[in-house]
Amino acid sequence: MSRKLNFNPGPAAMPLSVLETIKENIVDFHGIGMSLLETSHRSKDYESVQDRAVALLKELLAIPDGYKIVLLGGGATLQFAMVPLNYLREGASCDIALSGSWAQRAYEDAKKIGKVNLVFDGSASKFTTLPDSLSPTKGAAYLHLTSNETIGGVQWQAFPDTGSVPLVADMSSDLLSRPVPVEKFGLIYAGAQKNLGPAGVTVVVIRDDLVARSPDSLPVYLSYKTHVEHKSLYNTPPEFAVWAMMLVLEWVKEQGGAAALKEVNEKKAAALYGAIDESGGFYRCPVDRRYRSRMNVVWRLPSEELEGRFLGEATASGMVGLKGHRSVGGIRASIYNATSLSDAKALADFMRSFAAKNG
Ligand SMILES: Cc1ncc(COP(=O)(O)O)c(C=O)c1O
Repeated sequence: MSRKLNFNPGPAAMPLSVLETIKENIVDFHGIGMSLLETSHRSKDYESVQDRAVALLKELLAIPDGYKIVLLGGGATLQFAMVPLNYLREGASCDIALSGSWAQRAYEDAKKIGKVNLVFDGSASKFTTLPDSLSPTKGAAYLHLTSNETIGGVQWQAFPDTGSVPLVADMSSDLLSRPVPVEKFGLIYAGAQKNLGPAGVTVVVIRDDLVARSPDSLPVYLSYKTHVEHKSLYNTPPEFAVWAMMLVLEWVKEQGGAAALKEVNEKKAAALYGAIDESGGFYRCPVDRRYRSRMNVVWRLPSEELEGRFLGEATASGMVGLKGHRSVGGIRASIYNATSLSDAKALADFMRSFAAKNG
């Protein structure tokens, strides 16, 4: 089989070695005489997989003591509701940095639950930039930001100090692509299907004081306390997704962890932004250079007709997933951890030759 050069935004490329390990063990899980998918989530076999996944997350994200990790269903989308349901009490307000389409989703859900202050509104710049600093509103329950906007291609390169206001982040599209100072955050969440594995599991890292503040009045699944107290086994977990994530995390460790991946990810991004910037205006990236995403590189061509031709020729060359999100159009290359530097360089070469032919 010849593998595609995979620039899908999520679900996205996975390491080939992980897919091979799954293939070898899906029917008979390491010789137990049945598949992991056929065993109870209370079995030793499943528990050891989940425990290993959690231990690897703690190690690779350098999570300090005083935090818990829970694995949930419902995608990052459920977190848009769970965060305000747990912390946005009646009469209180929260802060949101409106940086693009995904922050907008978090904003829409939070508004249904309580009062929201927009501490940054990027709509005037069409979400092409981020603020240099952010000040939380006094007494806000938390401040929510989206570390990487998967559709718009803007990414926070440093995180604000929010003092006593807990900082909450949706890191769905860049968790583990670089080291992050977890101690600055009250809560971090991420759906797995970009850098961590297949869709189906969501990682939540939560500080102990926020676990304690999770109200008992909530329906049981919606309370973070439930999942912390039951070690993410209150109900049936997504076993397959957790196993696959564990294997991806082993792969991340083999690569040298978040710091080593950051270096490669920066080279991948530099290859693509280089091809854009050297094109003499043929390719245009709308994003403020200071906040260009290292995960989702977006650009336009001089016309939609040329964009269509670019996509057609890229597909014919085995490159998939390059069509920009339907809400914004253009081109987007998603270059998560499992997309190799050589794949990114191949795309940059393709961009150069396309520009030479059509510019
Ligand atoms: C930054 C970000 N947040 C949230 C989501 C929604 O995630 P899910 O589909 O897992 O609910 C996505 C999906 O692409 C995303 O990129």
